[in-house]
Amino acid sequence: MSLANDMDRTIADLIDGRRGILAADESTGTIAKRFEAVGVSSTEDARRDYRTLLLSAPGLGDYVSGVILYEETLGQADADGRPLPEVATGQGIVPGIKVDKGKGPLPGAPGDMITYGLDGLAERLESYKSRGARFAKWREVYPITDHNPTDLGLSANAEMLARYAATCQAVGIVPIVEPEVLIDGEHDLERSAAVNERVWHSVYHALHRHGVKLEYTILKPSMVTPGKEAGTASPEQVAEETLKILRRTVPAAVPAIHFLSGGQSATDATANLNALNQLRDKAPWQLGFSYARALQEPAMKAWAGKPENVNPAQKKLVERARLNHLAMLGEYNASLET
Ligand code: 13P
Repeated sequence: MSLANDMDRTIADLIDGRRGILAADESTGTIAKRFEAVGVSSTEDARRDYRTLLLSAPGLGDYVSGVILYEETLGQADADGRPLPEVATGQGIVPGIKVDKGKGPLPGAPGDMITYGLDGLAERLESYKSRGARFAKWREVYPITDHNPTDLGLSANAEMLARYAATCQAVGIVPIVEPEVLIDGEHDLERSAAVNERVWHSVYHALHRHGVKLEYTILKPSMVTPGKEAGTASPEQVAEETLKILRRTVPAAVPAIHFLSGGQSATDATANLNALNQLRDKAPWQLGFSYARALQEPAMKAWAGKPENVNPAQKKLVERARLNHLAMLGEYNASLET
């Protein structure tokens, strides 16, 4: 089969108007922090047990069409020796893989960041593909300050995302393009909208320059919200601003936009997605979720590293996924929260 056929099939399996993506790709450092918050020490076995819990949660495949894995998980197996990517596939969930290697400061642009990992990427992608991964994720990070992101930050980060995306498509892997504008700070909704507009514009300009076929991509953006230290906006305000800026910058050829949760509470992330989908007549793309914290936090708390908590933790995960599925249909309301 041709590479385009591979990507066509992956897009069709991922995008059905009613299911989102579970991000379970925390790096070893990040998962250690999340585990610490619930009193679990991060050993390889603990990470395997936890990710087995997630991927084998009964019914997860009703609400989730894809899962982003961390490289370590791709090589792990459940207690019966079944490779974890196969556990996902068995639930009708397409395995994907985080392929960037984290971030650091961008030289020449104080306050901006840049993501590492292009060296050897084509070879790594081939190897991930042979182990079952059909899509990939790469995250660029943009802090907002009075002077960030800079013009250099915008162009350098967009260039990385475009080179990554083109490399994925050259081996038949669908790239998730993730420009995360951070929620940290005191900026207001207007400033967030203005920054996201510049970011998304620069990213689509770069994807075009690099010949990336937008039909075989998924965008994973932040929602347009005020900074965390600046108070909140209503779901209706978030939805209106987010959609206004997306419409200005993201071509209709992109099939789906799956938002990150970025530090929003689980309930805010669901309410905001629901408000977005109530306006979906204005959106040429599917509007879904690709949450890590907003899907996992209640489940991880319920688990707390104890085998006897696996079932209740799986129920929490599937319930959060179900509520976000309802938000994709515009049918969520706060009274559904128990
Ligand atoms: P959050 O939903 O927790 O922001 O994580 C999404 C993600 O994949 C970050 O790269």
